[in-house]
Order: sequence, then structure tokens, then C-alpha cells
Amino acid sequence: MTALAAAGTTAAVLPGPLDPLVDGFGRVHRDLRVSLTDRCQLRCTYCLPEEFQDWLPGGRLLSADEILEVVATAVPLGIRTVRLTGGEPLLRRDVVEIVRRIAELPHAPEIAMTTNGLRLAGLAADLAAAGLDRVNVSLDTLDPETFRRMTGRDRLRDVLSGLAAARDAGLRPVKVNAVLVRGRNEHEAPALLRRALVEGWSLRFIEQMPLDAGRTWSRERMVSAEDTAALLSEAFSLTPLAERGSSPAEEWLVDGGPATVGIVASVTRPFCGDCDRVRLTADGQVRGCLFARHESDLVPVLRDPALDRRGRRHAVEAVLRGAIGRKQAGHGMGEAGFVPPLRPMSAIGG
Ligand SMILES: C[S@@+](CC[C@H](N)C(=O)[O-])C[C@H]1O[C@@H](n2cnc3c(N)ncnc32)[C@H](O)[C@@H]1O
Repeated sequence: MTALAAAGTTAAVLPGPLDPLVDGFGRVHRDLRVSLTDRCQLRCTYCLPEEFQDWLPGGRLLSADEILEVVATAVPLGIRTVRLTGGEPLLRRDVVEIVRRIAELPHAPEIAMTTNGLRLAGLAADLAAAGLDRVNVSLDTLDPETFRRMTGRDRLRDVLSGLAAARDAGLRPVKVNAVLVRGRNEHEAPALLRRALVEGWSLRFIEQMPLDAGRTWSRERMVSAEDTAALLSEAFSLTPLAERGSSPAEEWLVDGGPATVGIVASVTRPFCGDCDRVRLTADGQVRGCLFARHESDLVPVLRDPALDRRGRRHAVEAVLRGAIGRKQAGHGMGEAGFVPPLRPMSAIGG
């Protein structure tokens, strides 16, 4: 638990920064997504093909000190949530140390993590003790054979153990992210929701985006938010909840509640107007959007021996503001001339 949470305080009561991170469309940025590595043990068909080899060389990854420098600069500028992701964040040997050091910052942000869950059983307790607040675990199927076909690995049991460990460690809510792929797991949508209700997971279905390294995405084949709601409605009664705010998921009450299910319609009903996110890649590039064509390089300022701590923080802030200032109104998917980003999701940080 962060110091803030322990004190029973919430981010909302903190005084706002004098000069927050605002883009050209008036969107205030409060959510920093930090990719700890581009590596992952899984090969999800919609993310990383088996033959992918274009890994970042180890020396290009930011060190824990460098990551902390960026986070410590961003927090006084109004960042209230830091989400650790990747690649697979739990592949970083220093992941517990990184969590602990973020939690020890003055006015520590909420710390969340998106993980495939494979190493969570062994790490959840240490992560929670270090200050991790909550996790999103990716799980697309409850069938071991479908899991193997969708991820290239026979590891469903490890993910389920990881989810149990997250709950036991008090990481709440335990969120589960599921991507439905046509002809592969879409029929499992109701079973995933049924299991989520039993386990107390907060389940969200995410529309597949054109971010796979294999460039196999097609809008026609994608299982849309509307399709997902229809699949779930065959087994449950869904009532839409109002207003998603800056949260990407549209929430639905399941069978009258109190349980809910979320559907993230990134492609068919984008939520860019409420975007409050900025991303840091594992090799020190700031991106205003998953789909940005431009990256702002923090490495020269993080590794400039001529800068003292104050000078470095000013320089990091300038790069963050520059990247946020360049944000477009929307991700542009579906518009004429849309080109997917050069890097796959695993290298940007999901
Ligand atoms: C890229 S992963 C990184 C974190 C971690 N390895 C994990 O599995 O959760 C983050 C999330 O992105 C989702 N994802 C990956 N590729 C996607 C795509 N093309 N469209 C939508 N979601 C995607 C994954 O399902 C996962 O929930």
C-alpha cells in the first residue's frame, strides 16, 4: 500500500500542481505508463508473433535509477497513477525495488501493474509489501488448449495461480483484461464473466487494436464492443452504467448488479477526448499515445553527466511537456491515411 493509501488519503485531496501537464486540447495528464521491458514469455497471436526477434538490446533499457528520475519528476507535475507494464514487467529482476522506490516518493502516486500473471504467484506478496496497489492480469481463456494456441505456451495454470496470489496479497481490485479473437475464444466471453463473478475479478474485454508485430489485425475480423455485449447478453442481463469519465472501459451492471463488467471500445468508440495518459517506453522514449508516430527521447538528458539533479529534472520535465504538447486529438484509427505505429504493443508498453 502506498503511504497515501495507508494514511487513508486519496489522490483527489492533494493540492493540484501549479503547472500541470496539459496538452493542446486542454487534457490534463495524470496517468504515467512505464514499460519496464519489451520482453515477454508469451506470444499472444494479437501481440507478439512467435518469430519476433526485434528485441531491444539489454543496454538500451532504462535503469531503475533512471525510471525513478522520470517518475519523481512527473509526480509533482500531477501524475497520480503510475502503471508498470511491458512487455512483461515481472521479468525485470528489480521490479520489487522499483515499486518500493516509487511508493517511497513524496506524495507517492497510486501504483498499478499490467501483467501476464506468470510470475505473480511468487511475487505478489513482495510487490504488495513494497507498495503495489493493484494489478490487471491478462487472461483470454479458461481452456488450457486455447491458452496454448493463443499464447504459444502451456501456462494457463500459472496465470490462475498468479491471480489467486494477487487476491491473497490484498491487491484489490484484481482486474482481468481479456481480448476476444474471432474464431478462437469469442465463445468464451460468458464463461470468463461467470468465472470473474465467482472469483471477484473485475473483468474488462478490450477490443483488439492494430498493434501486433505480425500486422495481422483487420477491423472486419475484430470482435467489436457491440459483438462482445451481444455475446454476454446471451447469458446475462447487462445494464449500461452512465459516464466512463477518463476510464477507457464502458461499465455494465451484470444481472442487476452489484457486479459489473467493462468493455473497452478503443477502436469502435474511442475515448481520446478524455485521455490523461502519457507513456514511457523501456528504452526511455516518451509517447503521448499508443499510436503516436513521434517519440521524445529522454536518454540524452537522463545520461548527460553535465547535468546536476535539478538540471536533469528540468530537462526531463521539458521533454515530458514537449511530448504531451505534440499529442493529437485522437489516435486516428479508421481515418484516411492511418498508419499503425512502427513498434508493436509489447515494445511500447500496453
Ligand atoms: C502488451 S500487454 C503488457 C503487459 C503484460 N505482459 C500483460 O500480458 O498484461 C498489456 C495488455 O495489452 C493487451 N494487448 C496486447 N496486444 C493487444 C492488441 N493488439 N489489442 C488490444 N490489446 C492488446 C494484452 O492483452 C494485455 O492485456
